[in-house]
Amino acid sequence: MHYIRRKGWEISERHATPEALFLNRRAVLGAGAGALVAGVTPAFAATEADPSAHLYPAKRNEAFKLDRDLTPEKVNSQYNNFFEFGMDKRIFTRVDALKTRPWTIKIDGLVEKPTEIGIDDLLKRVQLEERLYRLRCVEAWSMTIPWTGFPLKELVDLARPLSSAKYLRFETFLDPKMAPGQKQSWYPWPYVEGLSMAEATNDLALMVTGAYGKPLAKQFGAPIRLHVPWKYGFKSIKSITRISFVEEQPKSFWQGLQGGEYGFWANVNPEIAHPRWSQATEEVLGTGNRVPTLLFNGYGEQVAHLYKGMEGQRIWF
Ligand code: MTE
Repeated sequence: MHYIRRKGWEISERHATPEALFLNRRAVLGAGAGALVAGVTPAFAATEADPSAHLYPAKRNEAFKLDRDLTPEKVNSQYNNFFEFGMDKRIFTRVDALKTRPWTIKIDGLVEKPTEIGIDDLLKRVQLEERLYRLRCVEAWSMTIPWTGFPLKELVDLARPLSSAKYLRFETFLDPKMAPGQKQSWYPWPYVEGLSMAEATNDLALMVTGAYGKPLAKQFGAPIRLHVPWKYGFKSIKSITRISFVEEQPKSFWQGLQGGEYGFWANVNPEIAHPRWSQATEEVLGTGNRVPTLLFNGYGEQVAHLYKGMEGQRIWF
């Protein structure tokens, strides 16, 4: 089966064609409307009982501005990559199975004292803020999102890493009963991602717990995900259950699947094409516009210095 053997977003080769992307999105939105008619509740409406609901909306940090309109919540909520719930973009119809309470995050590895913390206890120890951020997917589409969260640096400080810690390794839950995508054995589950300590402590790196002024909807990776806006979207791992401080560079989910195409650093660069499609432009979902992609997704001023002296390395893919 062509579809299965190509795996992951390899199947999205056709997404590099703007017209196909546009048509595909219309089909997605149309199907979403169908689900409503059929009485299926979209997950983005299902966050009201969330015990952290009183924390939202959080105050917006005006330092994080955008040059374009926000992606409408409905567009964003019905076009997602969350392979634990399927390989298509319509996972919002299936993601209600994700159980987000109780939710514990294990912090271990090279830290003074390994620990576990419940999401609601963690939320009591941090100050939430809203930031408007871009998200650029390696599939050549983008969105602009009002995320709510706290700087990853705060979590690093709480964890008290040892000086030997060079990287953070993030892991998503593993529960094939809850997330049927994890029954697909050709994927190296659980989803894993990583950052260097310098990246994790950069002010842009955000632990996200909310969006659109509410607790994070399930399809966005509730109850807690990462967002690193200068990197391709696959680095922004969803539904995190474990953060380990390690000395060796962690091997990510996509490196494990297709290391030839996806590397560790994955910084956005319009001049370096994916082996099978261009990264020069992106479709801004919800607008029908295709615009030039920016180096580091427009965040070069804040992060370019992190990669000085690494020019010979594979910092783009
Ligand atoms: N995290 C997990 N656990 N599983 C995934 O499939 N997909 C990644 C990333 N984080 C993914 C994940 C990809 S490919 C992208 S582009 C973004 O999530 C998409 O985030 P969004 O659905 O909120 O737009």
